[in-house]
Amino acid sequence: MGAFAGKRIVLGVTGGIAAYKAAELSRLLVKAGATVDVVLTQAGSEFVGAMTFQSLTGRPVWQSLWDDRMSNGMAHIDLTRGAAAVLIAPATANVLAKLAYGVCDDLLSTLCLARDCPLLVAPAMNRQMWENPATQRNMVLLRHDGVKILGPATGDQACGEVGDGRMLEAEAIFDELYAFLQPKLLAGKRVLLTAGPTFEPIDPVRGLTNSSSGKMGFALAQACVEAGAEVTMVAGPVMLPTPHNVMRIDVQTSAQMREAVLKNLPGQDVFIGVAAVADYRPKTVSAEKIKKNGKSLTLLLEATDDILGEVATRLDAPLCVGFAAESQHLETYAESKRKAKKLALVVGNLVQDGLGGETNRVTLFDATGAYPLPPAKKIIVARGIVAHLASLMEKCDGKPYANH
Ligand code: C5P
Repeated sequence: MGAFAGKRIVLGVTGGIAAYKAAELSRLLVKAGATVDVVLTQAGSEFVGAMTFQSLTGRPVWQSLWDDRMSNGMAHIDLTRGAAAVLIAPATANVLAKLAYGVCDDLLSTLCLARDCPLLVAPAMNRQMWENPATQRNMVLLRHDGVKILGPATGDQACGEVGDGRMLEAEAIFDELYAFLQPKLLAGKRVLLTAGPTFEPIDPVRGLTNSSSGKMGFALAQACVEAGAEVTMVAGPVMLPTPHNVMRIDVQTSAQMREAVLKNLPGQDVFIGVAAVADYRPKTVSAEKIKKNGKSLTLLLEATDDILGEVATRLDAPLCVGFAAESQHLETYAESKRKAKKLALVVGNLVQDGLGGETNRVTLFDATGAYPLPPAKKIIVARGIVAHLASLMEKCDGKPYANH
């Protein structure tokens, strides 16, 4: 089933050259199962004709307040009733200014004022128009009014200049809209998670680490935010951008990760250990760079603390989720890890299926059995994990979470 099956999106297209990307966006939405009603402004139609959108969406395109195709003649009311969202892409400086001040002088601006569903805008304009204090002032007003702003991106502009104001690519807008419409399964919940590898120094330039891209942990942080949770992420050394609205704490070593986790633990509903925490660290760290002398070198290692194990056995433990990346016997190892660490849920995967890549194939293990998720992009897998997590929390029904 398509990601947008059963959802109707009102796509507003205003007068910027990025309107050509709106054609691709409408195609992506339709392909994902959405019903797309395009509302084209007069200026928008100068860039892309109504026939293009009508052909791509298979539906009439709306352009005028005085359109009498709606039986009651009220397109400005009826179009948004029952819609999942209004998305304006591209959104020009002009339409943003009108939205900020409640001006309604055409169909699109009027239906935005009359809507009863969320509004998202993808600004697209010359960098100086974007940076102009008037536009920036309008963006503050729109954010305050709860309008979701997508982008803009930085880069080459149609006018030949380079800077902020480029509309996001169609695929990025599609992903953002999809994320925005996720069910708020974790509304009011607080989630703490670890992500990425740790780095245990040997000397000032060398260290021991695990191969972990951090992508699964970052995707899970994003999925939790999308589901309405307040998310704190303790991240080992990775270069990934912080997902929107995630409180990120950067650490290097497993000891620092443990300290940050314990400090932020009070009040959390869920703890998810996604990080590939080093199991051993050098017992002593050399203050000076160890010189090579062509001979073998012996490092004495000591075990690190098991952060997840420690959190899960506390009396005030939140619901705990662990990850088990195994190279074989996934079912046996993941289930025994769940029991040994007293976890509510273990996300198991074979390292050959997920390590470092963009996709993953996981199986969820809880007290009632094993639940394989279909292989997919890590963000999709993360949303599947969140849905399962939310159902476990619902079963607790306000009682303390049982990590067993
Ligand atoms: O014990 P093992 O490393 O096999 O378990 C993996 C799970 O435990 C992961 O969820 C990982 O984040 C967590 N872990 C931890 N602290 C450690 C080692 C693993 O939190 N020192």
